[in-house]
Amino acid sequence: MYKVMFVCLGNICRSPMAEFLMKDIVKKQGREKEFFIRSAATSTEELGNAPHIGTRKKLAELGISTAGKTAVQLSKEDYAAYDYILGMETANIRSILHIVGGDPEKKVYRLLDFSDCPRDIADPWYTGNFDETFSDIQEGIDAFLKQLI
Ligand code: 4NP
Repeated sequence: MYKVMFVCLGNICRSPMAEFLMKDIVKKQGREKEFFIRSAATSTEELGNAPHIGTRKKLAELGISTAGKTAVQLSKEDYAAYDYILGMETANIRSILHIVGGDPEKKVYRLLDFSDCPRDIADPWYTGNFDETFSDIQEGIDAFLKQLI
């Protein structure tokens, strides 16, 4: 089983979008038993809060629910518990490495580093553009799944 942890700053916009989209993708492929997928924050800003309305609306367009999800913070123990710890942007990678204390087993990646066009996932926090974020995340997950096969 692949254990995958998506990480962003607040765990209310980007990483929950990635968590629930990837759960939906692997479910539709009949592969949900092969994956354990979660998401977490690097900061304490939004702990306990539900996903942002922009993330919920975008996922709801596809019939995907985030019910029950609230923001949690990445912990040092998560490093041993997961196979992949996937940040949304370069700043997340620095914070992840700070929290887990280094990456000796090469588990930490930026999601779009798996794509043909490595870059940060568009951050909807200031732009309100959750469509662009969704498109980036879909590209990243598709590329990540392709390299697992
Ligand atoms: P996320 O979005 O990291 O994608 O969940 C943000 C959430 C909170 C803040 C920034 C981005 N903030 O500044 O509190």
